[in-house]
Amino acid sequence: MPKPVLLLTRKLPEAIEARAARDFDARLNSTDDPWYKDGAEIARRAAACGAAGILCAAGDPMGSATIEALPPSVKIIATFSVGTDHLAIPAATARGITVANTPGVLSFATAECAFTLMLMAARRAGEGERLVRARAWTGWAPTQLMGVTLEGKKLGIAGYGRIGQELAAMARGLRMEIHYHNRNRVPPEVEKGAIFHADAKSFLGAIDVLSMHIPGGEATRKWLNAERLSWLKPGAIIVNTGRGGTVDDVALVTALSSGHIRAAGLDVYDGEPAVHEGYFGLENVALLPHLGSATEETRNAMGHRALDNLDAVLLRGTIARDALK
Ligand code: DGY
Repeated sequence: MPKPVLLLTRKLPEAIEARAARDFDARLNSTDDPWYKDGAEIARRAAACGAAGILCAAGDPMGSATIEALPPSVKIIATFSVGTDHLAIPAATARGITVANTPGVLSFATAECAFTLMLMAARRAGEGERLVRARAWTGWAPTQLMGVTLEGKKLGIAGYGRIGQELAAMARGLRMEIHYHNRNRVPPEVEKGAIFHADAKSFLGAIDVLSMHIPGGEATRKWLNAERLSWLKPGAIIVNTGRGGTVDDVALVTALSSGHIRAAGLDVYDGEPAVHEGYFGLENVALLPHLGSATEETRNAMGHRALDNLDAVLLRGTIARDALK
């Protein structure tokens, strides 16, 4: 039996490409050639090689036009991401194509990134690093770059899924009080004393630091708009490691410029890799290039999880563990 053809849209960690090449007739993109940016080209390549599976990644244009253009040979699209806002799942389901993601394995790494940004924003770490790097630091001074402590502050987690819960566990180490806003209240053993707010206004008004973990998509577009920003306390800190589209950049730049928001830390951007111009002129925002899951351990775990899903459908004819509806 010939091995099923697997089209990989992106360069993946070495061990993942090796496993893909061992178990499938893998068509790698080991140079990360940018053809993956074009949905029509993904579909064309899938047709040209008779792909049974596609291993794509966050941000690939897997909308309905791409999915409708895929050849009938495609049985499964496994995405190297937990986020699925780049994938038209209903279009895939309508064609009988399984879609699977990589939940769970990146929660700790992404929470670490949110924690990093929270500290960078509170302790002005970006500004300090830029000062030293510019060879402009003239020595310790009693009032230089004073930030605020996170100890005892109220952390508000918007979207209390696996990542939010990992962040809560880390923040308890800083003796922060945890608040959360979520579609549903979670059971007490998951809540572990965190305070649930069904209402966004009561949530935002209660907290000192907001960490955004809201999924992307039209329903949550610009969720953090000017009105919701105004509900935050003066001097609040904002971190976003979820999806860039959930924040209204113009409103956040205005709030950071006026000082209503003390500082922000961003890892994700609306329309990334584009970054809203307004952020570049601000000292009080730390900007990372979507590093949330970027640890060797996590990226390998994501790759193995995606391959497990591909194995299930293409090698064993069973249901993928992470199949989505
Ligand atoms: C995801 O998995 O959705 C991230 O944004 C990429 O790690």
